Amino acid sequence: MRLAGKSALVTGGGRGIGRAIALRLAGDGADVAVLDIIGENAENVAGEIEAIGRRALAIVADLTCSAQVNAAVAKVEQEFGGIDILVNNAGVTQNVSVVDMTDEDWERIVNVNLRGTFYCCRAVLPGMMRRTYGRIVSISSVSAKQGSGVWGAAHYAAAKAGVIGFTKALAREVAQYNITVNAIAPGVIQIPIADERRRKAKEEAAARCPMRRQGRPEEVAAAVAFLASDDATYITGEIMDVNGGLYMD
Ligand SMILES: NC(=O)c1ccc[n+]([C@@H]2O[C@H](COP(=O)([O-])OP(=O)(O)OC[C@H]3O[C@@H](n4cnc5c(N)ncnc54)[C@H](O)[C@@H]3O)[C@@H](O)[C@H]2O)c1
Repeated sequence: MRLAGKSALVTGGGRGIGRAIALRLAGDGADVAVLDIIGENAENVAGEIEAIGRRALAIVADLTCSAQVNAAVAKVEQEFGGIDILVNNAGVTQNVSVVDMTDEDWERIVNVNLRGTFYCCRAVLPGMMRRTYGRIVSISSVSAKQGSGVWGAAHYAAAKAGVIGFTKALAREVAQYNITVNAIAPGVIQIPIADERRRKAKEEAAARCPMRRQGRPEEVAAAVAFLASDDATYITGEIMDVNGGLYMD
């Protein structure tokens, strides 16, 4: 129960890695707001959290709209009395070459992965600074470090690399307020995928990594829970790989 008494906001918490993070933080004692663009999924995960005895909120918002993000954060702060932990997990990917990439492709991928992270951080920071406490963990990707290579293209790699630079810069900016800002760079993590080609690409990449398997969403969630906890009070600006050895730096 190392997060007992804490409140968290997890973006993209309605499924996949975000769902595992939301459930893990709740399992460690936090109240959790689950934000997602798909309301039904957010509701379902909020229900799972309540079933284990924590308070939960389902919030429907599009992270690419700052007004929606600001309203979502205000609602969580009002209901929970503040936000101690922000997990910027929501993300979208796409497999397309640069020559075929449209303006809209670039905007969509960069906006959700990078702009959404900025909007959420900007919205939660005043409350964290006032209370001189905060834990921000953003989900980047191995794609940022190795230049894509699994699924997703240059716009995705650029956006996720942007998350790394943003994380380090923000970590410097707010360390004096006892706010830590870190990121996790997952490798190939197994989530339900409808697209057969994408599933195959992930299986092949996982077979090449030293651990010869895909990671589980819970293995990413465990790293988030650590960075969000008071076991990590002196860690900030860190980019933690959770990739089974796929890429080492
Ligand atoms: N699965 C992997 O192998 C892998 C590897 C590296 C990094 N990641 C990153 O992990 C994070 C979680 O991905 P996942 O694999 O669980 O994917 P996913 O597609 O299952 O989950 C992403 C979630 O974000 C939500 N979302 C998308 N756009 C949104 C928006 N505009 N506003 C609010 N919510 C939005 C979706 O509805 C969904 O619930 C992403 O940032 C992804 O880039 C995943």
